Amino acid sequence: MEFKTIIEPFKMKMVEPIFCTTPAKRKRLLKEAGYNLFLLPAEHILIDLLTDSGTGAMSTEQWAAMLMGDESYAGSTSFERLRRTVEEIFSYKHVIPAHQGRAAERILFTVMCKPGNVVPNNTHFDTTRANIEALGAEAVDLPIREGTHPSSRHPFKGNMDVAALEQLVARVGRERIPLVMLTVTNNSGGGQPVSLENIRAVRSVCEQNGLPLYFDACRFAENAYFIKLREPGYGDKTPKEIAQEMFRLGNGCTMSAKKDGLANIGGFLCTNDDQLAQQEKNLLILTEGYPTYGGLAGRDLEAISVGLQEALDEDYLRYRIKSTAYFGNHIAEQGVPVVHPPGGHAIYLDARAFCPQIRQEDFPGVALAAELYVAGGIRGCEIGTLMFGKHAKMDLVRLAIPRRVYTQSHIDYVIEVVLYVWSRRKRLRGLKLVFEAPFLRHFTARFVPQ
Ligand code: F0G
Repeated sequence: MEFKTIIEPFKMKMVEPIFCTTPAKRKRLLKEAGYNLFLLPAEHILIDLLTDSGTGAMSTEQWAAMLMGDESYAGSTSFERLRRTVEEIFSYKHVIPAHQGRAAERILFTVMCKPGNVVPNNTHFDTTRANIEALGAEAVDLPIREGTHPSSRHPFKGNMDVAALEQLVARVGRERIPLVMLTVTNNSGGGQPVSLENIRAVRSVCEQNGLPLYFDACRFAENAYFIKLREPGYGDKTPKEIAQEMFRLGNGCTMSAKKDGLANIGGFLCTNDDQLAQQEKNLLILTEGYPTYGGLAGRDLEAISVGLQEALDEDYLRYRIKSTAYFGNHIAEQGVPVVHPPGGHAIYLDARAFCPQIRQEDFPGVALAAELYVAGGIRGCEIGTLMFGKHAKMDLVRLAIPRRVYTQSHIDYVIEVVLYVWSRRKRLRGLKLVFEAPFLRHFTARFVPQ
């Protein structure tokens, strides 16, 4: 007998209290924070769905491994363990640790990109785009058409538009494209997966044009599980086998271990190219540290080694994907506009459809995120006009689920709050931007109500 209730496949050994505040107090705090939830002290947040990055709970195995951390400056055994784990799953020749994903990105792009270059991706994440643009290169998003329509249903909405990639190569010339990237899962596009069929097709365009293919691998395990569930021929394969097959189609990757590394900090950069690896290590030494620790403690490397394996565990992935879908489906059933189907790490509310009375230039996503905080102490994150400016194809509010942190009753509470805000949606008003930084403005922007 298989029971339908999906339980959390872990039990609690240590607990952290969370604190309740009143709507009146939250209203005041929000005003002080310039209506930007990044600027709120975390102690005033009840359920923090700002990000799934670095916010997960570590397992007993991870904590135990941390005690075994070798803090040697050079040649650490903890690095050797990480190198072997990454080699097994990712299969790339060189593994370069970094303190988090964006450090790996900066090193990769500094070595590979020149001003005037063009980097295609299914959809760049904000730090990826910013790192490319900071070098004077252009970041081009090439999602499939379905990927930019919240309500359209497609099993692999994270796929890259292969015809658009071919057209881009023909238009700008392959000499101007230093690499092609695929983000798995596609975070900015709704946490949607990329199929192996699509990866193979992108790989084939890369091969025809002599272009290297790199993965932004942050949520590779969730992507692998979606392939197992949805792609014909993969139902009997393990998530690890699928991940291995996926990575063999590329030449390297950047990885934020704060996501599917199940660690609170860390990342790495991989490549099969000896010459690039040498240049990357030289840059790493300049700012991150020696190539056997990359700005991390030996114990962090241990936590990542265990975390990468745990993230591929099928019981964990089944719970992870089903519990995110549980949240998304419960609010969608009541009419709340969300990105369909539910993604792996988050549910994305479609703010343009949620509050159509707010014009795009008045930041519907920021206004909706602010209202969720006032109503229920929930912190989400705008992914739209504030984050991407004119590049924003959608205005979404991402409610990201930290890994192994919240229980079903926490999620039931979030569902109740979202439905309450939905019932009062006509009262929502736009916001006026009164301060912005020159790049990555969403972290520090300030607003006043319209
Ligand atoms: N690539 C993707 C697809 C990401 O989602 C992130 C981070 C990064 C790269 C950068 O990694 O944070 O370790 O430097 N995403 C977090 C988020 C911040 O909330 O989605 P990092």
